[in-house]
Amino acid sequence: MKVIVVANWKMNPPSVSEAKRLFAATKKLSLARKNIVFMVAPPALYVRELAALARTGLQVGVQHAHYESEGAHTGDISIDQAKDAKASFLLIGHAERRALGETNADINRKLLVALEKGMTPILCVGEDKRTIAGEYFDTVKTQLRAALSGVPTHKLSRIYIAYEPVWAIGATTAMKPRDMHEMSIFIRKTLVEQFGEAAHTVSVLYGGAVDGTNAPSMLSEGDVRGFLVGRSSVDVQKLKDLVASL
Ligand code: PGA
Repeated sequence: MKVIVVANWKMNPPSVSEAKRLFAATKKLSLARKNIVFMVAPPALYVRELAALARTGLQVGVQHAHYESEGAHTGDISIDQAKDAKASFLLIGHAERRALGETNADINRKLLVALEKGMTPILCVGEDKRTIAGEYFDTVKTQLRAALSGVPTHKLSRIYIAYEPVWAIGATTAMKPRDMHEMSIFIRKTLVEQFGEAAHTVSVLYGGAVDGTNAPSMLSEGDVRGFLVGRSSVDVQKLKDLVASL
C-alpha cells in the first residue's frame, strides 16, 4: 500500500517563487518515489498556480475552507472556490484552527460539505495534553463522533483521519510508535461503534514532529498509513530525509 505524506505548509513560504521551488522539489521526489502519495496543502493564495503543476501521485489541497459556499465571511475561502482552484483535498479541524475557535460542530458541517462536493477531507483530531487518567481517549472520541456525525457509511472510505496530539505539533520529539498503535486501535474501535465494518476502510495518519528519524518506526509499529507533516515538509533537506526513510 502506498504511504501518504500530507505536507501542511502552514503560512510558508513567504513568496510564490519560493513556493514554486519547494513544490518543484516535492514533485521531483514524487516522481522518484512511486510508493508515496504526496498531498501538499500550501497557503490558499498559491493553490491555483501549484495545482496546475500537479501530477499523479502529487495532489494540491487547502488548509482551511468555510462550509458556506458564499457570503459575508471576511478572510475566508469556500470549498467551491478551493475546488475551482483545483484543490482536491481539505484539512479540517487542524489544532491551529481549533485554537482560533473552530468548534466540533463547525468541523462536522465542513466535513459533510466537503464530502458532498467531492473534496477529500483530512480530519485532524488530537488531545492538548496527556494525563495518567487517560481522559485523552474521551477527547479523541468526542472529536471523532462529532466530526463524523451524519456521514453516510459508503462515503467513509474517502476520509483520512490525521491523529495529531497537540503536544507533539511543533515539538522536538514525536509520539512513541507504541502509543500511536494504541491510539490507532482506539480510533478504529470508535469508528466501528459508529459505522460498523466500514470503519476499516478509513486511513489513519499520524502528525506531530514527523521527520526521517521517527517516520520508519511509526510506519512499521504505529499502525498508520502515513503522515501529516509540518516543518519537515517546508525544508527541502528535511523533506528529502523523510522521503529517503520511507
Ligand atoms: P510539525 O507540524 O510537523 O511541524 O510538528 C505538524 C502539523 O501541525 O500538522
